[in-house]
Amino acid sequence: MATLSTTYTLPAPAQADDKFPAVFHHEFLLEQRADPSSYTPSQTPTTVPPQKSTQSALLLHGAGQQYTLVTDHAIPTISKSDEILVKIQAIGLNPVDWKGPAYNFGIPSLPWINGRDLAGTVVQVNDPSSRVRVGDRVLVPSTDYRDIRKAAFQQYAVATHFNAARIPSSASVQASASLGVAFVASVLALGVSLGLDFSKSERCPGPNLVDVVRGIDVDSIPLDVREQCFAAVPVHERLKGGEWIAIWGASTTTGYITLQLAKLAGLKVICVADIARHGSRLHGLGADVLVDRQDPERAVAVIRGVTGGKLRYAIDIVGSETATLLERTLDGSPREDGSHAHLLGLTGLPKERKPGVVYHTVPIKLFHSSREVGEGMVGWLEGLLASGVLVLPEVVRHAGGLGNVNASLEVLRGGSVSGKRIVVDLGE
Ligand SMILES: NC(=O)c1ccc[n+]([C@@H]2O[C@H](COP(=O)([O-])OP(=O)(O)OC[C@H]3O[C@@H](n4cnc5c(N)ncnc54)[C@H](OP(=O)(O)O)[C@@H]3O)[C@@H](O)[C@H]2O)c1
Repeated sequence: MATLSTTYTLPAPAQADDKFPAVFHHEFLLEQRADPSSYTPSQTPTTVPPQKSTQSALLLHGAGQQYTLVTDHAIPTISKSDEILVKIQAIGLNPVDWKGPAYNFGIPSLPWINGRDLAGTVVQVNDPSSRVRVGDRVLVPSTDYRDIRKAAFQQYAVATHFNAARIPSSASVQASASLGVAFVASVLALGVSLGLDFSKSERCPGPNLVDVVRGIDVDSIPLDVREQCFAAVPVHERLKGGEWIAIWGASTTTGYITLQLAKLAGLKVICVADIARHGSRLHGLGADVLVDRQDPERAVAVIRGVTGGKLRYAIDIVGSETATLLERTLDGSPREDGSHAHLLGLTGLPKERKPGVVYHTVPIKLFHSSREVGEGMVGWLEGLLASGVLVLPEVVRHAGGLGNVNASLEVLRGGSVSGKRIVVDLGE
């Protein structure tokens, strides 16, 4: 086990200066650096690697199978200057963790290690000028699932410093393991696919990702998400403060984050969810209109009524069936400025296309493939957490470490934990 020295220094926030592209809003940078004392004191940037070469990990040996716990898996090694090694203390469970093996997707080869949300302590840093230091507590959305070193279902994981957000001392590691992937999906959906400018937020300004994406080398953007990355370049198509947006599946973890970010940017938000169960929390987070999901036809009628049949932006977080319902709430008739209605599906889109509607997915790869985008997003997340502006998802803590992940995924799959994130505790 790594033993950390007791000499503490505060993080050096000014080091981020030369790494941020000029397009970043000035207040955004100020906000990120607002309160360095709110982070756990960091140690000097020396390397403190684990004192052993093997670890426990969960291996997937085939589609349709459970994960197998092994205790002799090699600890992953960092190989690039922007990489760090994290000792994992908590894992947030996402639906994809059981859906991938069940439906045979997202498994590059076998045996494989899965797991997308982790939080823990940095034990090794390659670059001494990295924004993250040994001893920092960080949360990491592990979107780069093709790199087995970065998976969450193991004791140690590799990450890049631009995909690791420092956890403020006001938040626990367990609570912080709950929101990473949901945050990444929400920010990229709203900020890249729909073009919402977060720098306009008064309470905690974020990045204008349309500008950030335009500043990066096109060839560095993976081909399969390139079109989506530039979908919101035409100014008249972009989602702006004051507009209505409907979210179907607002009680999902991703929905809770999307609602909060949309309100921060000044949108009017319609939330479709089980209102008896989740209405109080959604109302507390600023939802403008609550629509019950129990009667989907009625929900479509209510959304059309509230927006006068003029809705132009909608996000579905449930599946193609509810995306098809949401599509019917959109006004696809041509606008004077030539702009369209926009429907984004996180879990699927309608089979048929409606004229006048532009369909979107979320370019999740952009988070780990672009340092500028990743750094802008985790920097903003640090500001949102330190200032308390972003309310964390409710968490159900499961003890038992990696050995309990299979059972916890069964609970998630069963749907009994509703509106909360299951977080598996790996201990110190
Ligand atoms: N494309 C991507 O990169 C990406 C990224 C993140 C997430 N996702 C996807 O987004 C979805 C949500 O993920 P998550 O982690 O945020 O989910 P989650 O927190 O596990 O969501 C659970 C919630 O879904 C709600 N729900 C189930 N069926 C519903 C329906 N028909 N209408 C409205 N709400 C419904 C449940 O509400 P009740 O309490 O009412 O049952 C429950 O509160 C998943 O399918 C996930 O795979 C995709």
